[in-house]
Amino acid sequence: MRFARILGTGSYLPERVLTNADLEQLVDTSDAWIRERTGIEKRHLVSEGETCCDLAEQAAWRALAAAKLDPTQLDLILVATTTPDQFFPSTACLLQQRLDVHGCPAFDLQAVCAGFVYALDIADKYIRTGAARYVLVVGAETISRLVDWTDRTTCVLFGDGAGAVVLGASDTPGILSAHLHADGGYASLLQVPGGHGNGQPQRAFIEMRGNEVFRFAVTTLGRIVDEALDYNGLTKDDIDWLIPHQANIRIIQATARKLDLPMERVIVTVAEHGNTSSASIPLALDQAIRDGRIQRGETLLMEAFGGGFAWGAVLARY
Ligand code: UT7
Repeated sequence: MRFARILGTGSYLPERVLTNADLEQLVDTSDAWIRERTGIEKRHLVSEGETCCDLAEQAAWRALAAAKLDPTQLDLILVATTTPDQFFPSTACLLQQRLDVHGCPAFDLQAVCAGFVYALDIADKYIRTGAARYVLVVGAETISRLVDWTDRTTCVLFGDGAGAVVLGASDTPGILSAHLHADGGYASLLQVPGGHGNGQPQRAFIEMRGNEVFRFAVTTLGRIVDEALDYNGLTKDDIDWLIPHQANIRIIQATARKLDLPMERVIVTVAEHGNTSSASIPLALDQAIRDGRIQRGETLLMEAFGGGFAWGAVLARY
């Protein structure tokens, strides 16, 4: 059997930091409310002129170095992003040029907060079928540029960043399975309505019915955890680490409870960078691999939920 194995990870957060205290100066909010309702303490934001590809590039080089792989060995470059530098070329093509690689396929994938797990599934399928040996998967966002900084219900939640994973073909697992879902029937609960396609580019700000999204996320993530475990004939006890999308500490705690996992076995970074959309899982994964918590051979459950709605889970052996 041929599997897709994680060879190396990398991540990058822009230097500029916005604390909850800073937000108190912008909108009618408080550090206490933000911490209690979301778990967020600060977020990193891009500076003027800094782009999604800038963040992606930093994370990509770090992942390539960790994997000890030269970029010319890549067979596929995938960038999960909701905030590409340009309409086109794709951020993946811009990144390919930065890495000085020429010829391999490169494309973006847009599944908002679920983008990274969607991209992992594609990478896994390329590798399993023999279409690729080495794949670079990046989740990168400058989501702060879609934030209405006068809307206290959303502006406290989001931050920018990038995370990357290099996957390689291996005889041993590897990604065990991926479980992706979407339901466009819920589009209006979490959206950026503006776009050139509908002739309303000026409405390019996040709109969210937070409470409804919250409830749907908790139930759906609980269900997908069961789906991933059942598919692999595993039980909750087999999971060593939960690496969730970092939207809200209360959503993360609910999924951990569902798995009977103590919070020490959950990688939590939401306090440090808020919701970085498709970048949040690879940022958390990289942090926990680099600080030595995640060890080779351990079983990881990654899961995400977001706009679309689109959601998914990936079960992997590190
Ligand atoms: O990654 C994509 C998926 N997105 C998510 O998973 C986000 C899901 N939703 C959430 O995380 C939470 O719903 C929020 C953090 C967005 C909101 O927390 P909540 O506990 O659901 O609060 P709420 O929306 O029910 O609002 C409670 C109160 C309201 O005031 P009233 O109507 O009770 O007087 C809000 O106006 O809190 C108020 N509020 C705020 N107060 C201070 C809303 N935002 C703020 C704020 N500061 N920033």
